[in-house]
Amino acid sequence: MNINVISIFPGAMETILSMGTMGIAAKKSLAGYRVVDLRDFAKDNYGSVDDVPYGGGGGMVMMVEPICDAVRSLGLREGSPVILMSPAGRMFDQALAHRFAAADELTFVCGRYKGVDERVRELVATDEVSIGNFVLSGGELAAAVCIEAVVRLLDNVLGNEESRDTDSFSERRKHILDCAYYTRPVEFNGLRVPDVLLSGNHKEIQKWRENSSLERTRARRPDLLANGARES
Ligand code: ADE
Repeated sequence: MNINVISIFPGAMETILSMGTMGIAAKKSLAGYRVVDLRDFAKDNYGSVDDVPYGGGGGMVMMVEPICDAVRSLGLREGSPVILMSPAGRMFDQALAHRFAAADELTFVCGRYKGVDERVRELVATDEVSIGNFVLSGGELAAAVCIEAVVRLLDNVLGNEESRDTDSFSERRKHILDCAYYTRPVEFNGLRVPDVLLSGNHKEIQKWRENSSLERTRARRPDLLANGARES
């Protein structure tokens, strides 16, 4: 999969993309990253990519022209997803991660300042995506969140494919959180690992895990169970 990121912080973005699962995907040649410095497409000699909003008001708005030129420089195929990261976008979730993971190329546009010129949405963006109901100072970290969620779904990126299938929000466990996990030591600060997990009885362990999942979901995310009931 080719992943393009358009940003005014290309160095920071390259570093993030070399980390963890995103870095592994690149090393295995399962994902290739192209980071585009938006300032290379500035129309003046100062590298300006933002300007004051028409109509006044505080803050700066990212200009349409550098963004459109940067996207066009990528020579994308018709219909290839161009994702504008913005708090006004559709909420990112595991279903959207799966949809993006099925594409062979993704392009993320990272906004900054107050927002981007509205015409970016009309001219180049195919999707507008938010990672939550909060405002970041830019789309870079939000794009990284999406990219990590997508590349870990690509075949052969993770060593243990089964672990991916049991993640909370995976297709198999859409409406239930993952169970509690423990590793060594058996006892720490007076807290013991549940005996059943040490028993070697796989049927009982499976039962315990299902129950743990259900209890955690009831306590923390009852909305997921309600959604599941509605869909079934
Ligand atoms: N840019 C600023 N805030 C954002 C958010 N919540 N999600 C995606 N991009 C953003």
